Amino acid sequence: MKKYTNIKDISNLKETIREAILLKMDPFEFQDLGKNKTLVMLFFNSSLRTRLSTEKAAKNLGMNVMILNVNDAWNLEFEDGTIMNANTSEHIKEAAQVISQYADIIAVRAFPSLTDKQKDESEFLLQSFIKYATVPIVNMESATAHPLQALADAITITELTEKANPKVVLSWAPHPKALPQAVANSFVEMMQNMDVDLTITHPEGYELSKEITKNTAINYKQEEALKNADFVYVKNWSSYNDYGKVLSQDKSWMMTKEKLGAAKFMHCLPVRRNVVVEDAVLDSESSVVIKQANNRTFAAQMVLKQILEDL
Ligand code: CP
Repeated sequence: MKKYTNIKDISNLKETIREAILLKMDPFEFQDLGKNKTLVMLFFNSSLRTRLSTEKAAKNLGMNVMILNVNDAWNLEFEDGTIMNANTSEHIKEAAQVISQYADIIAVRAFPSLTDKQKDESEFLLQSFIKYATVPIVNMESATAHPLQALADAITITELTEKANPKVVLSWAPHPKALPQAVANSFVEMMQNMDVDLTITHPEGYELSKEITKNTAINYKQEEALKNADFVYVKNWSSYNDYGKVLSQDKSWMMTKEKLGAAKFMHCLPVRRNVVVEDAVLDSESSVVIKQANNRTFAAQMVLKQILEDL
């Protein structure tokens, strides 16, 4: 693997998931692979799971890890030809090349603005690192994608499914703030590559990009969509068409035990209790969110392993 910025970078998904599940039984099996190699993790935004699980994954492989909260460093300039006489002090051209001298792999987290659709969709920040860094780049959630989360979700569903072709429902839920579409995008793309029956449900106005959903079934009636579901992945996202806007906070879309039925409840976390999902779901055996978060380590470990093998 030369980089991991999108789930399309995984050449053999089934084999990667199978190996990740095996790795859980012996996490230190490849501890020599990362010896004297360094992962630099750059955070433009907050994180709990991604930060800790990716660091743990790298250390399980014997790597050294350095973490920079980018807001503590010099303000970066990303535009070409800018006269840098205002707030930015360092250009990405120098920064990416400098960091590449300290790192064998660079991982980047940078959320979208949710105000400039064109710029967000161009993935200008992640693409700038890909363009100017001289080492492989890993996406720890960008403007439009969260591929490490999606791989962990795929591992979780594979481990827990009791049947071939389980029914998986991605359900929008209310949230007081405008959130990115990244998790939903990558989850949909991942499920399209798995042997599952995927349905998306959300209020009208919350359609994801057609380039992502393609022919996936969309049902605006949540309870109808949830019928006979085996896995229900709940996530809020802001409007894609009316870009970055919160169009609805309809509480009737919150996931409840009654609506969930016999399905397993999934969420990437962090989650707002009794807004996105009621306590009764999260505190029940139906919730697999802790297992999902654990699988973040093995998703990251598989990605780093495959990149290290190709260095
Ligand atoms: N799910 C996830 O990416 O969690 P963090 O934002 O805490 O990293």
